[in-house]
Amino acid sequence: MTDYQCPKCGVRSPVESLAWRCPRCHGPWDLDFTAAPVSLDSLTGRVGSLWRYEEALPLAATEATGGGPGAVSLGEGRTPLVPLTSTVTAKLDFLMPTLSFKDRGAVMLAELARRLKPRRVIADSSGNAGTSIAAYCARAGLDCTVYVPAATSPKKVEQIAAHGARLELVPGDREATARAARSAADEGGVFYASHVHNPYFLHGTKTYVYEIWEDLGGRLPEVLVLPVGNGTLLLGAHLAVEELRAHGLIAERPALVAVQTAAVAPLASAFHAGADDITPAEAAPTLAEGIAIPAPPRARQILSAVRAGGGTFHTVTDDRIRAAQLDLAARGLFVEPTGAACWAAIQAHGLEGRTAAVPLCGAGAKTGVAAGG
Ligand SMILES: Cc1ncc(COP(=O)(O)O)c(C=O)c1O
Ligand SMILES: [Zn+2]
Repeated sequence: MTDYQCPKCGVRSPVESLAWRCPRCHGPWDLDFTAAPVSLDSLTGRVGSLWRYEEALPLAATEATGGGPGAVSLGEGRTPLVPLTSTVTAKLDFLMPTLSFKDRGAVMLAELARRLKPRRVIADSSGNAGTSIAAYCARAGLDCTVYVPAATSPKKVEQIAAHGARLELVPGDREATARAARSAADEGGVFYASHVHNPYFLHGTKTYVYEIWEDLGGRLPEVLVLPVGNGTLLLGAHLAVEELRAHGLIAERPALVAVQTAAVAPLASAFHAGADDITPAEAAPTLAEGIAIPAPPRARQILSAVRAGGGTFHTVTDDRIRAAQLDLAARGLFVEPTGAACWAAIQAHGLEGRTAAVPLCGAGAKTGVAAGG
């Protein structure tokens, strides 16, 4: 296995150490890992999960096989591309096993945890990441505890419990939950399956772009529109773009167009102010709860990734999100309000006729139709 490496101060730590963040600056880790090229021709007939991109992944699926059970999987990935207009294609990541794109990252964390054999796995989330980690830990036979705010919607709490994870209901806001999880994560023998801090999660979400590349016959659209709260899908997409470029597998970088909710938009504000880092935002209610993150720890990386491809940030109001959710439903696609934010951004801001892929990355079945209007 490889090392964690701090992008800010260069500190390294072996993955086996279970250190969940840089001990010097307390920032999130990157992974000291170089992906090998994936050959389009070699993909035919491979396993129908994200393990098909084995060369590009920091955990080798075949290594895990070694006569025993293969790498953890619930058949995630290979989600369909469905055209919305003549230039914009939707990628239906709400069809993943637990109904959101988070499964791409959760499968990597569960497989990593299975190899590290920690005393227990913990995670914190108010939504899709927690249900995904709980499901993949169940699949991997791992003891898992999920910290959630006490006010989390009963449906999500029910799903986490149904997967056999222990629940810690924390009074107060999302930050109070994160604090409780972080102090548990500092205990010995605990693997903190953090979608924000652990870089293996990003090497899972990057398969979103590998799949588009494969399905388009070795090409990418001119624009990738991506929702951004903590930026795990965007940073995964950036990793994949850089890897495909480094191996000469795409000619041009697509522009990353990042979408935040107007209610909580620290990254969009920093981007348009020309800043390298954010000023933390105030928490505020919004329909797009999945992307309402006042102080994302990977802010600097997100801003630099969007600038690298000549992309930009857009914000969308709740009214736009509500209309986009209904518009997608009228086309046969029922997504949660957060999952409609990117389509709302395209409708509000346009893409100047460029080809684009937009993720519909969370299912409407989990949340229902947005209230109000
Ligand atoms: C449906 C959906 N879309 C987008 C996001 C945003 O992901 P990230 O916080 O990694 O940017 C989330 C996060 O919970 C989500 O559940
Ligand atoms: Zn550091």
